[in-house]
Amino acid sequence: MRRLIAGTGWKMNIGATQAARYAAQLAPLVAALGDAIEMFVLPPFTSLPAAKQAFSSFAVGIGAQNMHWEASGAWTGEISAPMLVEAGCRYVELAHSERLEHFGETYDLVRRKLNAAVASGLTPILCLGETAEDKRRAVADDILNEQMSLALRDQPPERIPTVILAYEPRWAIGAAAAAAPDYAAERHRGLRKAVSDRFGAEAAAEVRIIYGGSVTPGNGEALMAHADIDGLFVGRAAWSAEGFADIAAIVARAAIQRKKQ
Ligand code: 13P
Repeated sequence: MRRLIAGTGWKMNIGATQAARYAAQLAPLVAALGDAIEMFVLPPFTSLPAAKQAFSSFAVGIGAQNMHWEASGAWTGEISAPMLVEAGCRYVELAHSERLEHFGETYDLVRRKLNAAVASGLTPILCLGETAEDKRRAVADDILNEQMSLALRDQPPERIPTVILAYEPRWAIGAAAAAAPDYAAERHRGLRKAVSDRFGAEAAAEVRIIYGGSVTPGNGEALMAHADIDGLFVGRAAWSAEGFADIAAIVARAAIQRKKQ
């Protein structure tokens, strides 16, 4: 049984002072969930020390939104995986569409970052997603397979369950509406099949694939009604502690539901 996930990336929001306040507000709201689900928060780099301290008393892991592929060196303005580990990160997000779109990142670069992340013991949250044009041409599954295969090319099958895959259709991020739940679930199934073809049935059965892109408390339940969607990865709707708590509650209800089945 795959452990479900509720996560949020804060993007370039929520500085250190606000991060501490967010954590203090969130703690009582998610206390009853215990460790029923996995929760993560990805603050901006400068908020990591405050977040590490503020989230240490309850079950929310912290992670970074990006990293460099080398451990150290003359790379002005960059942060390495060992530095993230030292800062208390358990996760690192890779290949977010905003990194691809605005900073020219490619999946070959992402592969190098992912290799460095796993070598340091970080859990990569690997974003995969088709553009609106790919969707129109009905090639989304091919694109997802290609991105996944390239980013995970150097990984052995036994490593795959330790990576979190995030299906994030690029046209649904920061948009007015999420992907239709049926459409998203179809992509998750296609991606799991692609993982199975490449890394074997066991890896595919264990790997968590979460959905991100305009998730709200209003559409989260319908997304989580699909068995291949293993969690929600949220931007705007979880930039308040109350918003994230609402999303976490939806994921926790889905976890209870699935245990019964
Ligand atoms: P929104 O939820 O604001 O669309 O952002 C989603 C996202 O970028 C998750 O990584």
